[in-house]
Amino acid sequence: MKARDPARGLAAYGAPHFIALTALTVVSLAQAAESSSDRGKALFDKVGCWECHGYSGQGGTGPMSGPRIARTRLPQEAFIALLRRPISMMPPYGPALLTDQQIADLYAFLQSRPQPKPAAEISLLKGDALLKGAALLKGPAP
Ligand code: HEC
Repeated sequence: MKARDPARGLAAYGAPHFIALTALTVVSLAQAAESSSDRGKALFDKVGCWECHGYSGQGGTGPMSGPRIARTRLPQEAFIALLRRPISMMPPYGPALLTDQQIADLYAFLQSRPQPKPAAEISLLKGDALLKGAALLKGPAP
């Protein structure tokens, strides 16, 4: 009788178990690593803040537009109060829709957004680019 090939044994039993265990570990690590900001991002998409404020809170365009809210200067308490009782066009989000903790997660997500570039660093907004653009619009000289 042939001795059992240890490599085959590993392929038949060890490797699949190892892969399954590794996959489980990766999944649980990923869950543990989910931050307040990650949960906030999921809520931002789910409850529809993006519809008026843009996917990154950069501010919306169109009839339902809301202002830029990424890196809002509002303190967290004021942010929560504003969602509960908005000023005019924004719908209110009561505690049945969003808990204080969920609003805190939304806040963490918005505070994690990158700072916009200063206008001076955007070459298209610099004078000469604007002048070139205007010349292009006029078309070739007659
Ligand atoms: C239907 C469009 C709409 C939706 C949906 C919406 N907003 Fe607004 N939001 C606005 C408008 C418009 C304003 C400007 C003030 C007003 O009209 O109430 C505003 C204002 C704000 C402000 C105050 C900004 C400032 O600095 O003055 C914050 C913060 C804010 N929204 C967060 C949110 C969050 C978070 C959500 C999702 C839970 C959300 N909004 C959903 C339209 C919307």
